Amino acid sequence: ATIPKYMTDLVVPPVMPPVREHDRHETDEYRIGVRQFQQQILPPGLPTTVVWGYGSVEDSETFSYPAYTIEARLDRPVRVTWINQLVDKRSEFLPPLLPVDPTVHWANPPGGIAGRDSMPTFTRTPGPYTGPVPMVTHLHGGHSRQESDGYPEAWYLPVAKNIPAGFARVGTYYDEFRAEFERKYGIKWRPGTATFQYGNDQRASTLWFHDHTLGITRSNVYAGLAGFYLLRGGPSDLPPGVLPGPHPSLGDRPGTRYHEIPIVIQDRSFNPDGSLFYPDSRAFAQDCTNPADYIPNGDVPPIWVPEFFADTIVSNGRTWPRLDVEQRRYRLRLLNGCNARTLFLKIAANPTAPRPVTPALPMWLIGTDGGFLPEPVRLDQILLANANRADVIVDFTDVPQGTELYLINEGPDGPFQGGTPGTDFPPADVNTTGQVMKFVVGPRIGADKSVPPDQLRLPPFTPLGPATNARRLLLDEQVSTTGCGPVATLLGTVAPDGRATPLRWSDPVTENPALNSTEIWEFDNRTMDAHPMHIHQVQFQVVGRGPDGNQPPAPQESGFLDTVVALPPGPGQTREITRIRALFDLPGRYVWHCHIVEHEDNEMMRPYIVGPMGG
Ligand code: C2O
Ligand code: CU
Repeated sequence: ATIPKYMTDLVVPPVMPPVREHDRHETDEYRIGVRQFQQQILPPGLPTTVVWGYGSVEDSETFSYPAYTIEARLDRPVRVTWINQLVDKRSEFLPPLLPVDPTVHWANPPGGIAGRDSMPTFTRTPGPYTGPVPMVTHLHGGHSRQESDGYPEAWYLPVAKNIPAGFARVGTYYDEFRAEFERKYGIKWRPGTATFQYGNDQRASTLWFHDHTLGITRSNVYAGLAGFYLLRGGPSDLPPGVLPGPHPSLGDRPGTRYHEIPIVIQDRSFNPDGSLFYPDSRAFAQDCTNPADYIPNGDVPPIWVPEFFADTIVSNGRTWPRLDVEQRRYRLRLLNGCNARTLFLKIAANPTAPRPVTPALPMWLIGTDGGFLPEPVRLDQILLANANRADVIVDFTDVPQGTELYLINEGPDGPFQGGTPGTDFPPADVNTTGQVMKFVVGPRIGADKSVPPDQLRLPPFTPLGPATNARRLLLDEQVSTTGCGPVATLLGTVAPDGRATPLRWSDPVTENPALNSTEIWEFDNRTMDAHPMHIHQVQFQVVGRGPDGNQPPAPQESGFLDTVVALPPGPGQTREITRIRALFDLPGRYVWHCHIVEHEDNEMMRPYIVGPMGG
C-alpha cells in the first residue's frame, strides 16, 4: 500500500532536560536511557512502530525517536550517564528488534569474557541471536577524550535478571575506560551504564549522538538510536539575532515558532503491521540468493547486506512531514542519518518533476560538520553523505503565500558511485525516496531581523597549520570466492610504492599520530563506490581530490568536516585520492571508519592511537 505524504507536521525535537543545570563543577548533567516504545512514524490511521529511543530517565515522556536535542554551551562540560534500559517490566532483557548477524565481528556477549568481541566460528546455521542487546553511545564530531568517546568494544548490556551464565556483560575496553573515568572525575559507573563527559572545547557546531556498538551499529541506529547535540557560543558562533531563531534553547513554550530547525533525514522501510523492516538474509542483496553459498564453503555472512536502501524517507521520526513556514528566513540544520543512502537535496516546486529539477529556491550553506564556513555558499543542491551535516539558510521571504515547496532528493536508490544524478545514475524514485518534506508558505508574523545570507559575515575562520606527516590509507573490499558479491568492506594501508595491505578491525593498530601533530591522511579508494570516511576526535579540512589528490575541494568543503566523501576512481582511473588534514591533540584509542553503517559493521573500521601505544 502506498503511504500518503505530507499528512503530519514536522516535529522539532524538544530540548533534552538535564538532571541539574548547575552543579559544583559547572557541568550540565544528564541521565539518558535507551528504551523500547511505540511511536507514530507512519501517518495517523496507519499502525504505530516499535522503535528504540533515548530519553531522560526522570521523565518517560521524553523518550523519542529521534532523541530530544542536547543543548550545549562552549567550554561548559556536559556529563551524560547513558543507561541501557532494553528490558521489559519484569526486568528481563528485550531481544534485538532487528536481525543480528552473528558471523560478522561483533560485540558477541555469548562469547563470554574470553571471547569478548570475537568472531564466532561459522556454523552451518547460525541461529538468530535472541540475547540481550549491547550498546555504547558516541558523540559524533565530538572532541572527546578516549574514555568518553564510545569505543565500539566498550559496550555494555542492560541489567537484567535473565542474562545467561557465561555471557560477557561488558566489552573488552569497558573496564579500562570505566577505571580511567572514575579516576579522572571521581564518579562511579553503575552496571548497565557508562558516564561520559564532553568538554565542548571545540567550534560551535551541529553534532549528533548515536549508537556505535561493534558489528550492530547498523541495526541499533536503524531502530532509532540517534539525536542532535547543538554546541553554541564563543568566537566561532554568531551572536543571537544574526541568524533566524529563536532556537530551542530559548524554551519550549507552547506556540513557540521555530525559525531554526534541526532535521535528521533517514530512509526506513515498514512491514504492513507498522514494524520496521530490515533484511534478515543476504538473499535480499540479490547477489547471493543460494543459501548453500553462505556456509560452510562460502565465506559470505548470511544475514549482513552490503548496504540497505529503504523505501520511505523519514524526517525527525515521521514519514514525509510538512512544515508551515512564514515568509521569512529559516535556518535548517540538516543531517543525513541514513544507513547507506547518499542524499542530493534540492528545493523544488513540483516534487515529481523529471530529474534533474530546476531549483525553486537556492540553499545558502553557512556551516558543515565542524561549524561555520569561511563564508556563505549559495547552492542549488546539497550533497549530504551519511553522517554529514549542512547548516543552511532558506529564504521564503518573497515566496507568495500559499505556495507549496518541497525538499527533494536526487541521490541514487543505491550506492553512490561519484557521478551526477540523471547522467551517471538514476535518481531516487520521484514518488517515494525522491521526496523528503513539504513547506507550505504563509504570512510572516513579526519582523525578520536576521541578516540576509548574501550579506552575512560568518565568524573568523582559522585553518589548521601545516602537516608534519602524511599517510596513505586503503579503501577496499573483499569479494566472495563463490560469486556472492562482497564478503566484507575493508580499510588498510598503502606503502609509498603503492603496495596496499588490507586490514581488519582485529589487526594491530597501524595509524599512530604523535600527540599534537597535524597529519595529512590520503584515502586511496580502490572500490567502485564512494565511502563517507569519518575520523573520531577531529574536525579536519579537505586538502585535495582526484587521481593524485591535487584537485581543490568543492566550496561546500571549505569548512571543517568530520566525515568526507571519498569518491571512487573516475572513468579510466585506477584510484582516487581524497586528502584531508587533521590535528590530533587528544591522546588515546579512537577509531576511523566508513559511515555507511553496514560497511562500518563489517570491517570497514580501524582503531587508531594518538601518542604512546602503551601495553
Ligand atoms: Cu557517527 Cu564513528 O560515528
Ligand atoms: Cu563504505
